[in-house]
Amino acid sequence: MTESHTPLRSTCASSAISSRSTAPQPDPLVSVSGLAKSFGDHEVLRSIDFEVAPGSVTVLVGPSGSGKTTVLRSLNALEVADAGVVRIGDVEVDFAQRPLTRREVATLRAQSGMVFQSHHLFPHLTVLENVTAGPVLARRRDRSESEAEAHELLRLVGLDEKAGAYPYQLSGGQQQRVGIARALAIRPQLMLFDEPTSALDPELVGEVLVVMKDLAAQGWTMVVVTHEIRFAQQVADQVLFMDGGVVVERGTPDEVLTRPRTERARQFLHRILDPLD
Ligand SMILES: Nc1ncnc2c1ncn2[C@@H]1O[C@H](COP(=O)(O)OP(=O)(O)OP(=O)(O)O)[C@@H](O)[C@H]1O
Ligand SMILES: [Mg+2]
Repeated sequence: MTESHTPLRSTCASSAISSRSTAPQPDPLVSVSGLAKSFGDHEVLRSIDFEVAPGSVTVLVGPSGSGKTTVLRSLNALEVADAGVVRIGDVEVDFAQRPLTRREVATLRAQSGMVFQSHHLFPHLTVLENVTAGPVLARRRDRSESEAEAHELLRLVGLDEKAGAYPYQLSGGQQQRVGIARALAIRPQLMLFDEPTSALDPELVGEVLVVMKDLAAQGWTMVVVTHEIRFAQQVADQVLFMDGGVVVERGTPDEVLTRPRTERARQFLHRILDPLD
């Protein structure tokens, strides 16, 4: 895909920054500090801090219940954290300043596109209509312009020939790829993925990971929750290992996934790499 075919790529796409680079780092696109959330008396997030460089890929790993989804949902304002500051680009929300206005929530949400474990496509809309629904209905953008962009995005995920199909006519992997195109269609600065392949049959996982790798190569800034360790090793710039609502380890994939420092991370990786052991 050439430059001219990717009009929707992130504004920071060309920098393709790696956290391993020794060059001066640009300002982070995303800063999270002191993010905290409890459900009742269950402290689910306890002061999470991290930054995401523009054009980089951050992978969150950790055991079930460690708070990964809650972090992503807080970035997208689907969850209103109890405390902490989230900044994405120029948009900053201080969750401690209550109540958040609808406008603040909507503005933060508009900065990121989210892809969930299962696709949540509108069953009564075609693939093309699913991709244009966000821009046309929510953003009131021009329909023909949105359709042209939607075809572009469907080509990006390898599905333009399915533009007129309905979700039930697609495989799970194809539905997930439409979900990615739909998330891209709102022109987010940041893409969030919450275990996008974990509900798929094993033979369909690869086609979704390939699309995600392409997005990373094009310079999209991405935060990805996944148990696909090979993907993380190949694509991530930084890996955060979470447990019990805190970030226990952070570093390059090699540091966190190959040479973890903590016993907690070692045990977790051992369990997912060798489930029968
Ligand atoms: N709406 C909610 N109400 C009450 N408890 C919740 C709610 N959402 C999440 N939790 C709890 O918060 C904790 C963290 O959940 P979260 O979904 O963020 O974990 P996770 O790391 O994404 O886990 P998994 O790998 O299973 O998806 C869990 O104990 C979960 O039960
Ligand atoms: Mg989760």
